Amino acid sequence: MKIAVIGAGVMGHGIAEVFAIYGNSIYLYDKYPEALKKGLNSILWSLQKLKEKGKIEDVDKIYSRIFPINDLQDIEDSELVIEAVPENFDLKSSIFKEVSGIVSKDTLIATNTSSLPISELAKNVVNPSRFLGLHFFNPPVLMKLVEVIKGNETDTSVFNEGIEIVKRIEKIPIPVRKDVIGFVVNRILFRVFTSACRLLNKYTVEEIDSLAKYVLEFPMGVFELLDYTGIDTNYLISNEVKKRGFDFTCNKLKELYEKGFYGTKVGKGFYDWSKGRPNITKTEKMPSPEQLLKDAINEAIWLVENGVSTEDEVNLATKLGLGWKKGIFDYARELSIK
Ligand code: CAA
Repeated sequence: MKIAVIGAGVMGHGIAEVFAIYGNSIYLYDKYPEALKKGLNSILWSLQKLKEKGKIEDVDKIYSRIFPINDLQDIEDSELVIEAVPENFDLKSSIFKEVSGIVSKDTLIATNTSSLPISELAKNVVNPSRFLGLHFFNPPVLMKLVEVIKGNETDTSVFNEGIEIVKRIEKIPIPVRKDVIGFVVNRILFRVFTSACRLLNKYTVEEIDSLAKYVLEFPMGVFELLDYTGIDTNYLISNEVKKRGFDFTCNKLKELYEKGFYGTKVGKGFYDWSKGRPNITKTEKMPSPEQLLKDAINEAIWLVENGVSTEDEVNLATKLGLGWKKGIFDYARELSIK
């Protein structure tokens, strides 16, 4: 398949890499030459890692399927376009208007937005019936989940096509049948983030992350994950979702954003990353699992009750999208919250 990925940042280059591994030809576009170069270097680094681990054979062959471009007109013959630019509604809207004027009206256009409404974004394209959400998780090459989101105008055949495309790259698609803010995984994750931020009144960053890592056995602490996915990204998302009635406010996030402490990518966020991944130690004092997870569990129940995804899908989505050992409903049963 000929695929265009718009934006070579953390998500864009990772998505391009995954599709290239599975034999697709990729146009990787970024407006900024430096970002494109950085994205390509990250792809090479990642492919070499995968080769070391015996997961792929030929780095050069895969890499040669990726064509870096800095003129959007070059994507004209793409069969699928995936947008992965920063989480700013106006920016995404203008990209879709431009893309839609270049590709055929039969081209499938997808957004990798983690939270913005698909149906609102679809208003910018000529053919909204062929517009959908394909939401990957960071890092796309390692995380098995992709949320496939149906906008109000997405044709059912297009939604099913999205599910098939995800299966062809050996990822697990989770069908998100209603276009709700934050979809499934982030709706739940935002509740974990807001609970963690609220708990900062009584506990330190390390104490909260110690609970996440050593008791709940998450692969990363909650604040570590905020740094990893980007303080800037999370702050921008929090503003966009707030405008649409979903409150994910965290004063500390705003403070870090304003100081330019964007997390892993700049070496500082909640943690200091200048010497690599933070070493989170197990602390004596920590909040209870209920304090961190209760709101997230209620959110998961809401998703099922509103027919967004089934209980099994939501449970699996939290395991695969966040790398948790247990799904949100497994925790709910253990904590007798449900
Ligand atoms: N490509 C190839 N290899 C990679 C890689 C990449 N992009 N990223 C990491 N690796 C490698 C590491 O280099 C390391 O290799 P070595 O064993 O040779 O050192 C190996 O993978 C394991 O990495 P780590 O030892 O650093 O740590 P880990 O075992 O914890 O695994 C992880 C890393 C897969 C990222 C894991 O920590 C994890 O699952 N974290 C949670 C991530 C998560 O929740 N993602 C979703 C966030 S929400 C989101 O993305 C949505 C949104 O919209 C914001």
